[in-house]
Order: sequence, then C-alpha cells, then structure tokens
Amino acid sequence: MQIILPGGCRIFYNGDDTYVQPGGGMEGRQADAVYRGNLTRLLEKVHAERGLDMAQYRPRYVERRLAARLHALNLHTYRQYATYLDEHPEEYAKLLDTLTINVTQFFRDPTVFELFRKDILPALLKEKAARHQRMIRVWSAGCATGQEPYSLAMSFLSAMEPQGSDFLLTILGTDLDRNALAVARRAEYDLGLIDQIPKVDQQKYLDVHNDHFKIKPAVTRLCKFDYLNLFEDKPIHVVDVIFCRNVFIYFNREEQERVLGVFWSALARGGYLVLGRSERIGPQVEHDYELISGRERIYRKPLKLL
Ligand SMILES: C[S@@+](CC[C@H](N)C(=O)[O-])C[C@H]1O[C@@H](n2cnc3c(N)ncnc32)[C@H](O)[C@@H]1O
Repeated sequence: MQIILPGGCRIFYNGDDTYVQPGGGMEGRQADAVYRGNLTRLLEKVHAERGLDMAQYRPRYVERRLAARLHALNLHTYRQYATYLDEHPEEYAKLLDTLTINVTQFFRDPTVFELFRKDILPALLKEKAARHQRMIRVWSAGCATGQEPYSLAMSFLSAMEPQGSDFLLTILGTDLDRNALAVARRAEYDLGLIDQIPKVDQQKYLDVHNDHFKIKPAVTRLCKFDYLNLFEDKPIHVVDVIFCRNVFIYFNREEQERVLGVFWSALARGGYLVLGRSERIGPQVEHDYELISGRERIYRKPLKLL
C-alpha cells in the first residue's frame, strides 16, 4: 500500500518494512530512518556475499541504480529486494552489471597510476636491468574496451624513455566481451575522453582528429588483445604485472579465490598484482603476498617464496 505523507513523502508499507522518498515531517523522519536501516543492511549483504563495497560509490548513484532494479522487478522495498536476491542469486550479476557495466577509463583511479609510475615501474625496470632480463610481460585481465592496457603502455613507455628502449614489452589485454575487445583493437576513442589522459601523454601518444583521437602505433604495437574467460581458459604465464580491476566484483568469494589462484601461478616471482579500489583479497592471499599499498590495492608476489 502506498501512502503520501504530509510533506510529500511517499511510503510503501509492508509489515515493518518501509520504503520512503524523504520529504519531511515526523512520520517522514521515522520512515526515513527505517529506509536508511534497510538500505544499510542491503549494502552489507551485497558486500558480504559478493565482496562489492558499494560504499565506494556515491550514495545517490547507488540508490538510483538500486531503484532501477527494484522498478524492473516490480518490487517496492529494499527488504523485498534482499529476499529476492536470496531466492534468485543470479540477480547479483544483474545488480553488479547495473552498477559497473562497461565502466572503464584511461588512467582510472589516477592515484593508482601515480604510485605505479613513481615507485613501482622504476623499481621493476631497475631489477630487470640488474638481472639482464629484457622481457617484460603485463596482463590486463578484464580489460573491457582497452583504456587500461593503453594507460599501462603509455606509463611503461614514459618510464623506459630515460633508460633507452632495451626492454621487450608486451601488454596483453583479455576479456570475455568480444565487442569490447573489437573497440580495444581499433584504438580509436571519442574526443570527450581525452582529458582522462595526462597532457604530457596526450602530446606524445595520441593522434587527435576532429571528433576522436587514435592511439599512436608506438603504443598500440605493444598491446595485444585476446578473448579469455578467467574461469574457463588457460591462464597466461610468467607475467611481471597483472592489473585486474573492477572485475572481481562480478564473482562470489569462491570464484574470487579461484581466480586469485590463477594469478598467483601466472605471476613471476617479484611480480605485482593490482586490484580495483573497491576490491579486497582474502586473508590467505594477504598472507602470501607482500602488501605494497593497501589503499591502492597493490600486492607483490615475494621474490623468495617460503
Ligand atoms: C567494469 S569492467 C573493468 C575494466 C577495467 N579493468 C577497469 O577497471 O577500468 C569489467 C570487465 O570484466 C569483464 N569480465 C567479467 N567477467 C569476466 C570473466 N569471467 N573473464 C574475463 N573477463 C570478465 C567484463 O566483460 C568487463 O569488460
């Protein structure tokens, strides 16, 4: 039953479960408290079940996306939706799609790339040079439309400049979305995205046209794109860096552990694993890896294994 309260609140009653669009007045404030409580419980549930910390997103954005799912399912309250998730676990994927689908950016989470460029890349190149190793292999797992691998390629090229180009660098972007991979291979993006790329990199690595820009061959020749389903296909081996960001949120705990196992075998000793800012790894993995930055979710496979 829907009731319009004085002050313009709309409330849906369902036992003690209440969904309200806050408007004002005493009833509005009480209903708002119930609404907030149910929302918090729902977010905690999604966090516990799928490891997605929606607190990382703007609250209004989360509420709008949830409202879209409730509307699609003809549900009125967060409690109804929590029950629906229990009865139809496949709904988690749709919720996560609604929240994250195809979202990617060049240099996404710039502080991750800043740390990567400032500390990690120089250290990695120095170690490689000291060991007379020329091959560097990087894997962007769940690369979507290619912005992440190209950001990595630009970062590596800038870092390698002062040392000469003695390294043989390969950046492999993989995904299970073939359409996204086709966009990645084209390496051509809407001009509206150009500000995501640092000015200095724009000048060096982009060819700008009227309404789009193209990534220069010096960058694209380093990048290869392949279809790979993290659950089904043979993993890549002996990589120095894995970026797998904003992909785990699709997976349940068990599947996350499985994929983390794949990454452990894929990484060379001393290799780096970079996860998404809202993703966390289990205590076992935290024990296995050295923590480089908790905030930026950067881990390192130890050089010497116990
Ligand atoms: C939100 S995008 C993240 C893109 C990029 N890593 C970033 O952080 O900007 C998630 C990508 O993971 C891909 N993905 C989801 N499940 C996958 C799986 N099992 N194997 C490989 N890729 C997967 C999706 O197709 C999508 O392109």
